[in-house]
Order: sequence, then C-alpha cells, then structure tokens
Amino acid sequence: MPTGIRRVFSALLFGIAGAGAQAQPRAELLGPGIVRFTDDGVASGDLRPSAALLHPMPAIGPAPADTAVRPRFYETDDGKECVSVGIEAGTSLYGTGEVAGPLLRNGRVVECWNFDAYGYGDAMPHLYQSHPWVLAVRADGTAFGVLADTTYHLRIDLTSGIDIRSDGPDFAVIVIERSSPQEVVMALADLTGKIEMPPLWALGYHQCRYSYHPASRVLDVARGFREHSIPADVIWMDIDYMDGFRVFTFDPTGFPNPRGLISDLHDIGFRNVWMLDPGIKLDPAYFVYKSGTRQDVWVKAASGEPYVGEVWPGKCVFPDFTSSTVRAWWSGLVGDFVKLGVDGLWNDMNEPAVFNVQSKTMPLDNIHRADEDLGGQGPHAAYHNIFGMQMVRATREGYMAAFPNRRPFVLSRANYLGGQRYAATWSGDNSAEWYHLESSVPMVINLGLSGNPFTGPDIGGFAGNGDGRMFARWMGVGAMFPFARGHTGKGNIDKEPWAFGPEVEATCRRALERRYRLLPYMYTLFHEAHETGMPIIRPLFFLDPRDPALRSEDDAFLLGGDLMVVPDLTPERDRTPVLPRDFATAWRPFDFNDSDDADLPRLYARVGSILPVGPVQQHTGEKPLDPLLLIVSLDDEGRAAGSLYEDFGDGWEFRDGEYRLTTYVAEREGDSLVVRASRREGRWRAPDRQVLVRVLLPGGREKTAIGRENADVVVPLAD
Ligand code: GLC
Repeated sequence: MPTGIRRVFSALLFGIAGAGAQAQPRAELLGPGIVRFTDDGVASGDLRPSAALLHPMPAIGPAPADTAVRPRFYETDDGKECVSVGIEAGTSLYGTGEVAGPLLRNGRVVECWNFDAYGYGDAMPHLYQSHPWVLAVRADGTAFGVLADTTYHLRIDLTSGIDIRSDGPDFAVIVIERSSPQEVVMALADLTGKIEMPPLWALGYHQCRYSYHPASRVLDVARGFREHSIPADVIWMDIDYMDGFRVFTFDPTGFPNPRGLISDLHDIGFRNVWMLDPGIKLDPAYFVYKSGTRQDVWVKAASGEPYVGEVWPGKCVFPDFTSSTVRAWWSGLVGDFVKLGVDGLWNDMNEPAVFNVQSKTMPLDNIHRADEDLGGQGPHAAYHNIFGMQMVRATREGYMAAFPNRRPFVLSRANYLGGQRYAATWSGDNSAEWYHLESSVPMVINLGLSGNPFTGPDIGGFAGNGDGRMFARWMGVGAMFPFARGHTGKGNIDKEPWAFGPEVEATCRRALERRYRLLPYMYTLFHEAHETGMPIIRPLFFLDPRDPALRSEDDAFLLGGDLMVVPDLTPERDRTPVLPRDFATAWRPFDFNDSDDADLPRLYARVGSILPVGPVQQHTGEKPLDPLLLIVSLDDEGRAAGSLYEDFGDGWEFRDGEYRLTTYVAEREGDSLVVRASRREGRWRAPDRQVLVRVLLPGGREKTAIGRENADVVVPLAD
C-alpha cells in the first residue's frame, strides 16, 4: 500500500497523534550489528523475497536502542518509495558495484538497471550489473553498509548522503555496522555469499576476440602463445563458432569438429571457454527452440504469447530463468554441451540485451513465471536485474550436473548483488581509451567492495584499436587483476600480445610471467575470498581507514594484504599516486628483474610479509610448485609471516581436508634469519620440495638462501 495511505492507516490503528508525525521505521536485528529496516507499518512478511541474500534472514529481536544508522523512508509526490540515510561530514562512500568513474562515489548518481552499455563513458549511470549496496566509511575509520533489498530499478543518489529511490514496491534496507570497512565487506559476504573456489586454470591468462574463427585460427592463436613463450591457459570462443548464432550448435564449416579442436587445445595445455547467449533463435527447425516451445519455457509478453525480441540471431525468444523448471531445462542443454570437453562457459547479453528497441531490453510488463522464493509470477520490471543472475545460476548448475567433480567456471556480463555465488564478472564493452584503462582499477575495487572479488576488464579495450603503448600498460596492470583476459571487438586489429611488435610483446611476456609467478599467492587470496569474502583487489584506504588522503586513491591498489601495485595509468598526465604516510618504511620494492620496463606497475611487499611465489610456467598445469620461492620482507623486529594455500586446483576434495594451508614465518636469530613452516592446516602432508628464500632488506639490499621445505632455511644476514 502506498506509504501515505499506510501512515494514516497506522496512525488510526496505533493511535499515533497526527498523521504528520515522523513515523519510525521498523527495525529488526538480524545479527550482531545487522539491522533490517522497513517502513512504518510494513512487516517484513509483506515484502518481496530477497534475491541478494543467501538465505532468508528471520529477525532475532528488535534493534538495540543505540542503533546509530537510522534510515528514513519516504514517498515522492509521484508515489515512489524512497529511503535516505544521512552521513556525517568526512564520510566516504564506495560500492554500488560495477560503475564507471572513480573509486570514491560521493557526489555520484548510480542507477541499478542492467544495461547493454556498449561504449559507455564516465557519466553512464548504469552498466551491466546491479549492486544496490553502499559502503560508507566514517572519518574515524568505522564503517557501515546499506543494502537496498530490492531487484527493481533504483536510483542511488550520493550527492548528499545516501538517497535511494525505487520504481518498485516497498523494500527493506539492511544496515551493517562494523568497526572497519573490511569487516563490513566480510559481513556483506556472510549475507550474500562468497565465491566458490574456481579451477586453478581460471586464474591463468585468457585470450579472447570477437571472434576467433574458424577452428584453425583458434588453434593458431593458442599455438602462438607457446611459440612466443607467453604464458596463457585459456582461449575463448565468441559467437561466431555457432551455426547462425544458435546457442548449443556449431558452425558446420568453421567448427566442424569441436571435440577435435578441444582435444588439440588440451594437448598444448589450453582450456576452452564457449559463449552461450540467452536469445534463442525463433526457428521452428532448431532443436532448442522446439524443445523450449514444447516445454513452454519462454518469457511471456503481456499478451501471454512468448515475447519475441531481436538479438544476434534475428528474432529470438528468451528462457525464463527465474523459474526452476526452466533453469533445469537449460541446465540439461548445458550438460550435454559441456560433455564435448568444454571447460568453461561465457554468458553474455543477459541483461537481457534486445536490439532495435529504445530501452535496449524487454518491455517492463513482460511476464515471468518466477519461483515463489523469488517472488512468484510477476513483471519484467521486478525480474530484469536478476535475469542474468538466474541465467548464470542455471549455467553453473548444468556444468555441475555434468561434471560433479569439477569446479565450474562461468563468466557473466549481467549480474546482481550476490551473483558472485554463480559467476565471475568482466566489465563489458569498454573502449581502447586511456580513460577505460584508468577506470578499470576502481571498477574492480568497487566490485570487490560490493561482494564480487573475481572480476577484470577486457584487457586492451573492446571497442576500437588503441595502440601498443596503451596495450602494454593495460596488460601490465591487467595481469594483476583476479580475472585477466584480453578481448577485442569485431573488425579491430589483432590484439594478441605479439601483435604490436617486439617491445610490447616483451612487456606482455614480463607482465604475464609476473602473474604466473605470483599465482601461489593469488590462489591463496582466492581461498581467503572464498572463506571470508575479503576482496582480492583492495583499496589503499584499507591500510588506514582513518587517513583521508587514501580515500580516493584509485590508480594504486593492493593485491591481497601483502602486495601493493602502483601502475602509471596516465603517462600523459604524470599523476603521482597518493601512498600511505608510512609507505617508505612499511613497503619494500621488489621485482622479477623486470622493473626497467616502465610499462609495468611497480610492486611493493608489505614489511612483515612473506609472499609465496612459483616458477614461470606456460600454463598452470605445466609445473609443480617446486621450487617454492618465499619473498621475505622483514619488519623492524626481524620478523615476517605469510601463508600459502594449495590443493588439487580443481574438484571438491579440499572440502574434505585435501589441502594444505601453510604459514611460513621468518625470525631473526643473531646474524641469521631462520625461515620455516610454522603451522599447517589440512590433510596434505608437508611436501619435500626445494625452498628458495629471497630476503628484501632496507636500502634495496637482498639476501638469498636455498633449503628444503621440511627443514629450517637459514639465511646469513651479515654482509
Ligand atoms: C557483446 C559482448 C562482447 C562480445 C560480443 C559478441 O558485445 O560484450 O564481449 O564479444 O557481444 O558476442
């Protein structure tokens, strides 16, 4: 019921003096420091179910009286449900998921509306995904998060405080109060889910283009990586592999033998990922159209007939992924498809994008026959923002049913808060422009602050060509992102790492060799993200949430807690990043004999840390982690510590203890440093491998030693 009427109603019912009196929102405690607010007179049972939350969250009691953040619900003259949350001076706002523009969101207006945003610029208010979530960091470093629990179109205005306006019915707002932004982000992950462990190969470098065609070209590109000795794990098949853009089919001339192609790729250590779009060609002779029509799976127009919209194949119908029976139907198709040997799946155009209509999507009054636990039958307006999320959910389930012992890898363009449970994200159709290179850093950070740690942009830019310099810089920083994939659009020049000449090729090789050397550390970070929800790429302000100077730094960033990455993304502008006050004493530069390359970011190890590093390899399955290199950055007391997570790199045995999480410590003893494994978790025994220790000392001095995992490694420190 509209709020105005409801207020009068509750005033009558509860005898509140005067309908104009300021109504208090209902505040229920969901967990320590987590309160759900609903508008006066609205019980949580009156609301639509949450699509973001992992599980429905019953209240455990009323909110404590000293609850600091109190949203105010109101209604606009034209009947829109709104909520506003005031902020104190000095509060910095982040999150709002996948957005263009800077890290700091104060002053920006973001809309939650999944949108095919090809060629987007800084001012674009909505991109492909929706994250109705704001992280607020107060001047004193304490923090809170605001989750607007609705799938409807939202306008989140951060120009003065947090003001959220919905196009839908009443919604709840969940506020998480914590003593630091890190804790808020981890609490968000408790609520909305953490990533599952990806297969290790998905952390390798991915090469894509729209499109590698025919199959011989796919193989040539993959072989090119091996010939040029540039590490890579995955090659991608964009839409042209299909027969007339019909998903689950193959172009009979270009890809006559997909099984053969897959096996040739596997032989040279390459995994494969194939695109599946939601638009199903309206073709009475096409098996997917026939089976879907028979089973009545399509989203309906308001008329009750299947909705027809145009995408790549021409006229299309769209599976209604909000229904579990439709998801099961799709999962079955996915299962048959992946049994060819498919390693990973790419779901695109799932906003859903529709061509030749102004809205670029379906009519809002299309009908979804959604599961009751998503809200039951309802209009597209209610389900638009989770269409992609439900698609990747179905795709993931299909892969898992076919290969119960493998970890799925699904990449999605559209998604919604909590969608990290099902898929990784790339940031859609960016452009080969310096702006897009620069803004890829804050986008990855804000996605991590919004619950999705496994993300990255199209390295090199999708639209347009760019040039070698830009490409080299992009590869340099892109190789440090959780998801690292080069991609480019149709008609563009070649953008493989060797396409821009020997100098750029050498930078790309160095960038990717760095990535592969750092994979043991990165995989450990993925495990941390999986366990705790901590982002993999973190903002510098995590180092000192009270330092206002760090609040808007978004060129430099942290890869996990122990590695700082300082790229130069604006060579024309000569920008100096703002680094923490204790930077000179708390961070130590290091490299892999590659720091003469100005196109690569500078790397710094946190003083007091130990980074586990592996050998250069051409793909993740090439070599065992032997020797293990420990890069040790001693603190003033002569101590350092770090951890390394290892498992099979695929499968689920780690859940039964088949893994090893080792804590390494380094301690100064007299003139020597002793490095040893101090603690192990998991069933895997200590490996018998060589351990190389490289100690970073003040003034750029280094000491090294060689030992074995099962014995103390002693590093003489005296000159
Ligand atoms: C969309 C995707 C892009 C893909 C293209 C063709 O534009 O965002 O990555 O290459 O479609 O499938």
